[in-house]
Amino acid sequence: MLNDTIHPDKLPRHIAIIMDGNGRWAKTKGQPRVFGHKNGVTAVREVTEAAAEMGIEYLTLYAFSTENWSRPEIEVNALMSLLIETVRKEISTLNKNNIRLQAIGNLTGLPDKTRKALLEGIETTRNNSRMTLILALNYSSRWEIVEAAKKLAVAVKDGQLNVEDIDADAFAAQLNTCDFPDPELLIRTSGEYRISNYLLWQIAYTELYFTPVLWPDFRKKDLYDAIMDYQRRERRFGKTSEQLING
Ligand code: FPP
Repeated sequence: MLNDTIHPDKLPRHIAIIMDGNGRWAKTKGQPRVFGHKNGVTAVREVTEAAAEMGIEYLTLYAFSTENWSRPEIEVNALMSLLIETVRKEISTLNKNNIRLQAIGNLTGLPDKTRKALLEGIETTRNNSRMTLILALNYSSRWEIVEAAKKLAVAVKDGQLNVEDIDADAFAAQLNTCDFPDPELLIRTSGEYRISNYLLWQIAYTELYFTPVLWPDFRKKDLYDAIMDYQRRERRFGKTSEQLING
């Protein structure tokens, strides 16, 4: 059910989420951090379903950053296994709901089993068209930007590109996200006010929304709240309010 104070004509096309607070959630329950990640999957499922129902076209979830490798080995292994398990388990639901799975990040740096499960999920859902669910895995924005710069440098070196032709569009075309529009709304849970190396290029004009809710507690209503907040804002893209009203 769509909350009736959400305007369907003013929905963001793309929502990006930093799913934070799994460890703290587990701690409040006297459980190991991995328990928080497992329960985070429930929130992933809820939010994916709610976003698709509402007509959001793209949903990008920060599932594992390049910095997350420095966590205790037991947690990293558990997260990798959880990803395999979740992707395998959810493929049929994604297909039933016409949702396409995609991924951004350094996928070659993932353990073979995780990469294989992910690529299978991407392949099996590739013709789905209702919504694209993008997992950021072994992802960091600085890595992505450096890779894009290298690709442009190689193209210039090989004589396929003139330096004068490098502009924002040419640069964006080399990013992992080249097939997706920039997010209009970025949500971070758990009361932290940071971007943590996530989609730095893509969020140039994105509305930021921070909530104290810990990720495993995040439910459809929390997504509706974020969208309602977004819809109350005036997006000016550097213009004045008057220009927006008259233009
Ligand atoms: C941040 O919480 C969460 C993560 C680093 C992992 C997110 C993973 C999941 C929700 C599970 C699997 C996801 C998919 C898409 C299948 P934290 O551990 O940093 O929490 P803390 O800040 O309280 O320590």
